[in-house]
Amino acid sequence: MSEQSSGIDNVMQENRLFPPSAEFAGNAAIGSMQQYQELWDRAEKDPTRFWDGIAKDELHWFEPYGDVLKQDGHNVEWFVGGKTNLSYNCLDAHIEAGNGDRKAIIWEGEPGDTRTLTYRELHGEVCKFANGLKKLGVGVGDVVSIYMPMTPELAIAMLACARIGAIHSVIFAGFSAEAIADRNNDAKAKIQLTSDGLNRRGKVLPLKDTVDDAMKKSPTVEHVVVLRRVGNEVQWTEGRDHWWHELCDSVDADCPALPLDSETTSFILYTSGSTGKPKGIRHTTAGYNLWAKMTFKWVFDWKPDDVYWCTADCGWITGHSYIVYGPMSAGATCLMFEGAPNYPAENRFWELVEKYRVSIFYTAPTAIRAFIKWGDEQVEKHDLSSLRVLGTVGEGINPEAWMWYHEKIGGGRCPIVDTWWQTETGGIMMSPLPGATATKPGSCTKPLPGVVPAIVDESLKPVGENQGGMLCIAKPWPGMLRGVWGDDQRFFDTYWATVPGNYLTGDNARCDNDGYYWIMGRIDDVINVSGHRLSTIEVESAMVSHEAVAECAAVGRPDEIKGQAIAVFCSLRGAEPTEELRKELKLHVRKEIGALAVPDDIRFTDSLPKTRSGKIMRRLLRDIAAGRQVAGDVSTLEDYTALAKLASTED
Ligand code: PRX
Repeated sequence: MSEQSSGIDNVMQENRLFPPSAEFAGNAAIGSMQQYQELWDRAEKDPTRFWDGIAKDELHWFEPYGDVLKQDGHNVEWFVGGKTNLSYNCLDAHIEAGNGDRKAIIWEGEPGDTRTLTYRELHGEVCKFANGLKKLGVGVGDVVSIYMPMTPELAIAMLACARIGAIHSVIFAGFSAEAIADRNNDAKAKIQLTSDGLNRRGKVLPLKDTVDDAMKKSPTVEHVVVLRRVGNEVQWTEGRDHWWHELCDSVDADCPALPLDSETTSFILYTSGSTGKPKGIRHTTAGYNLWAKMTFKWVFDWKPDDVYWCTADCGWITGHSYIVYGPMSAGATCLMFEGAPNYPAENRFWELVEKYRVSIFYTAPTAIRAFIKWGDEQVEKHDLSSLRVLGTVGEGINPEAWMWYHEKIGGGRCPIVDTWWQTETGGIMMSPLPGATATKPGSCTKPLPGVVPAIVDESLKPVGENQGGMLCIAKPWPGMLRGVWGDDQRFFDTYWATVPGNYLTGDNARCDNDGYYWIMGRIDDVINVSGHRLSTIEVESAMVSHEAVAECAAVGRPDEIKGQAIAVFCSLRGAEPTEELRKELKLHVRKEIGALAVPDDIRFTDSLPKTRSGKIMRRLLRDIAAGRQVAGDVSTLEDYTALAKLASTED
């Protein structure tokens, strides 16, 4: 744990309260706090009965389960012995219910090209691609690595894997070849999916070239399937590479969903932890499916005629749970967008909301801060009257951004759901319910039914009202991660060893006197850049792999748009601290991890401030990076002169 966790400040004082309108509450599935409380109490008192009632109705069971929950310490199983299928619940179930002609995906590409797929059409595409994968020898338990643009085929690929019991590992298309290879090797991926390229702000990013590089270091991958998206030229390795359309050309149109055990691994998704090595978070079939579906319905108060838009990328957990599995198992109509929010102009999102009459809009605080910067006029030229619920995810939202979102986007009438959760939790854990909860800007409010939070101090004692401490979850919930891929010890050490019997979230939080939760940042060395988790150690490892770098420390510093920016302090092995070198180091990190990890500031220094026991004093570096007066106790600092020199170096 870092030194940051001692003495957590209560940073926000926010007393404004925004109850849902009587009209919204009157039409909502959960329309009052009593109703919410009654649900939460039932789930807490008798989780088995509560989830049994829901699971029977909400998922299709090829074979019924026995026990609802089996728990042995941190190893849990939900819906034991049952057989279901995520892809079936997202597709076939709707066709059988007579909703096959409902739109599943309304897609718009960055250049403005569009496609719409009904649930029946999506089912057809998924079946074909699943059969294509089978032709390549993919079966239950094989890992399919996905590195693709936000096209319908990305969702099709995920659903096709789920259909045949293959495990997908989606890698965000901004990661580098090195990062793809690392993940592929850890997962022992058998197949790689990609596209010829990706449209980004009018340019083409050559995804296939990056994959070709990654393949040099991905010995387990046997085949590469390439979607033709942008029509650029690509290198071709005969026997290994296959065009998506050719693979699907002569396959059967039907591919029955395979009945899979409830606990079958559905996917792994790599995320940063407090070490340099990303961990593959492992999710299952039935529990994950139910959690994604129920949380989607509760949190967004979804109705069949809603047009729902989550602006995330499927490379992150938000895309898994709230573009694909949650909304699609509910039968929602989802808008999916390939491009950037400011291309060709800074009103692109609002143009889309108006064009498709979006009614539920789910985005990240970093995006909201960018919208504010781009100016109200970008918003004001559009009719946003279709919107009825707004959501945020990925990091805390500052009250000013919350108010702007409420007034400018929501026209003062749309409830805002600030959803707190993690890759590990599978779905939303704490959030307002739009028809019930009076919101406070900056608070994720209350736990969802089935979520039992606890906040403890460093001696593991529960803290009092308004006191900060480590946020834990005290009881299992269906969507919880079941492991770290290939590393049971890390699973135990990271999440279960610190507070016995509790899942450790890694976040600090406090609970106010109304029982509202406020997330107060991480307890470890994980930083949150534009809503994405990055380990400072990953950035440091990438930096020191450059020959010029002797030692370095990466810290987060506040950034107006990104939430946190990455500041790196680095000492050199005799090299000259030039502007050229600074550029070269940034490029180096881009190559090692990807654009999202490129440091914003690199400060060269002779030495780093350390304690007498040799630990880098990150707290001091954070203060310096933020331009703050160096605060707190520096009595353990080994070399005061290092500190004075650091404060005077400029990027
Ligand atoms: O620190 C919390 C922050 O993001 C972390 C989870 O990151 P990741 O696994 O990448 O998932 C992001 C999308 C769910 C959390 O530990 N975080 C996420 N949502 C919020 C948040 N912090 C404050 N408020 C939120 N609503």
